[in-house]
Amino acid sequence: MLLIVAPDWSPGRTTAVEIMDTAFLDRLDARLAELDDAGRRRSLRPLRPVDGAMAVERDGRRLVNFSSNDYLGLACHPALIDRAAAWAAEWGVGATASRLVCGSFELHAVLEAKLAAFKGTEAALILNSGFQANEAVLSALLLPEVAGTAPLVFADRLAHASMHEGLKAAGVRQIRFRHNDLQHLADLLEKHAGEPGPRFIVTETVFSMDGDRADLPALCDLAERFGCFLYVDEAHATGVLGPQGRGLAADPAVKGRIDLVMGTFGKALGGFGAYVACSARLRDWLVNRCAGFIYSTALPPPVLGAIDAALDLVPTLEAERARLTAHGGRVRAALADYGIDTGASTTQIVPAVLGDERAALAAAARLEEAGLLAVAIRPPTVPAGGSRLRLALSAAHTDAGIDRLLEALAP
Ligand SMILES: Cc1ncc(COP(=O)(O)O)c(C=O)c1O
Repeated sequence: MLLIVAPDWSPGRTTAVEIMDTAFLDRLDARLAELDDAGRRRSLRPLRPVDGAMAVERDGRRLVNFSSNDYLGLACHPALIDRAAAWAAEWGVGATASRLVCGSFELHAVLEAKLAAFKGTEAALILNSGFQANEAVLSALLLPEVAGTAPLVFADRLAHASMHEGLKAAGVRQIRFRHNDLQHLADLLEKHAGEPGPRFIVTETVFSMDGDRADLPALCDLAERFGCFLYVDEAHATGVLGPQGRGLAADPAVKGRIDLVMGTFGKALGGFGAYVACSARLRDWLVNRCAGFIYSTALPPPVLGAIDAALDLVPTLEAERARLTAHGGRVRAALADYGIDTGASTTQIVPAVLGDERAALAAAARLEEAGLLAVAIRPPTVPAGGSRLRLALSAAHTDAGIDRLLEALAP
C-alpha cells in the first residue's frame, strides 16, 4: 500500500488521490504481469553497432543485424559522419529552440528546398521524427477550424500506429478499410458519399511490418473520384523505391496527385528525423498550426548534416537498390520453399509470419544462437496470430550473410 503524505496530512485522513495512486500502481503491476503471461512484455536490451552497423554486439556476442531499417547501409557511412561533424563544428550541436523562436537556421531552409526538389513537390517541412510528424501533422490538418466539424477519415487498417494516434488526437472517427483492399475503400467511400465533411485517405506506400506496397495510381484515382485529400507515409520507401530512390510518390504516374507525403530520415537515409512534402500553402498551415512543430526544439545541425549528405548520395545508389531488390527476392523464394508465409511482401521488408507469440520468440532465440539478430514482432504491433520475424534487409548485407540467415531459417 502506497501512502503519499501531503503537507497538511493528519492521522486518519486518507484522500481520494492517495487511494487512487495505490490502485493505479497495483493496476500497472497487474497489466505488466498479464503482458508477461501472454508473451507480450517488452524490454530494452542494450547493444552496440559494429561493422558499419550491419552487425551488433550484445552480451559480448556479435550478431548480424536483420532487424534494422538501415536499408542502404548509410547509418555509418563516412560521408554522413563527416558532414554531421562539420555542421556540428560550424553550427553547434543544438538548434537551441523551436523554429518559430530562434531555432530556424539557414540549414533548415536549404535542406527543405533540397527535399522539395528530391520529392518533386512545391515545398517541404522538416519535423523531428516520423512518429511526431504523423501524429502532429494529421492533428493539424484535422483541426475543426479547417476540416469542418466532422471530417471523414478513411485509413488502411494496418497504417502505422503514429497515424492512428494522430487521428485519435484529432478526435475524428476513423473509417478503416481492409489492408490494401481498394475495393473495400471504394465501397466505404460510396457508402458515405452523401454525408457532409471533407474526406481524407490515410495510408503507407510500403507497409512497415508486411513489406507490401499500396497501389498508388488506384488510390489517386479513388481520391480524385471522391474528392479526397490523400495522405501517404513513405517511411519505408524513401531512399529505396521510386525513381532514384525518391519514393513511390515520385513516380510519374502519381506525381502531383498526392496532397501530402511524409517520410523519415531514420531508415534508408541512415539518420534521424522526418519530413512532409506538400504545397507551400499546406506547409504554411503546418508552420502556423502544427503543435508538434511549433512547440518542439528543431532538429540539430549534426543531424541535418547527415540528412544533407544522405540526400546527395541516395540518387546515386542504383547498384545498392538493385542489390537490395535481389536480396528480397532471394529471401522470399527460400522462405516459400521452407513453407514459411511471407505475406504480400515485394520489398526489402520480408515478414516470416509464424503465428503465435511463442513461436516468433522461439525462432528469434534460435537465430540469436546462430549469431543473427531478427527480432520477434508481436501484437499489438501486428494483428493477433500474425507474430513474425520481421526480416529487414540491407544493401550492406553480404551474400554470405544472407546465406547464414537462410541456413538458420531452414526447417
Ligand atoms: C510507417 C512508419 N511511419 C512512421 C514511423 C515513425 O518514424 P520514426 O521512427 O522516425 O519516428 C515508422 C517507424 O517505424 C514507420 O514504420
